Amino acid sequence: MKTVLKSNLFRIFAILLVNIGLMSFVASYQQPGGWTVPDKYKNMKNPTKSDPANLKVGKSLWDKHCVSCHGKKGLGDGTKAATLKTHCSDFSAKTFKAQTDGEIFYKTKTGKGEMPAFEKKMADETDIWLLVNYIRSL
Ligand code: HEC
Repeated sequence: MKTVLKSNLFRIFAILLVNIGLMSFVASYQQPGGWTVPDKYKNMKNPTKSDPANLKVGKSLWDKHCVSCHGKKGLGDGTKAATLKTHCSDFSAKTFKAQTDGEIFYKTKTGKGEMPAFEKKMADETDIWLLVNYIRSL
């Protein structure tokens, strides 16, 4: 009797473990997050102001480099987005907005997977900071 109970408990435990494994696999598959932003960047201050003149520059950079994938409002619905395997993220999401300027700066600078790195294309880091302000204004 005791051994039957034990082996049943073991079975339930094994099934639970497999399920937890599957669930976390599905979660990681659905959420192409997983960026790690170094602390140094997280706390960086945006050296540019979000004023109308700067936002205008930000918009022109956005239209040139980002709109094809991220779309006009940053919803991840640009014309190129459908050809990608990874979703381009939704910049209107709370979790996106909760990020620091430094985190958005780092992600734009270094890229990941299908998100290109812009550190070479935008050698002047000020341009990336201007984009961060523009993204916040979308
Ligand atoms: C070729 C398509 C493409 C272009 C062009 C592109 N991105 Fe992306 N971007 C992506 C994809 C795909 C992801 C999601 C990557 C991931 O999570 O693995 C992403 C993610 C991001 C993220 C992180 C989103 C989050 O949820 O934290 C930021 C910030 C970002 N892009 C900014 C930009 C900016 C700014 C530009 C223009 C300078 C740009 N991207 C141009 C495809 C693109």
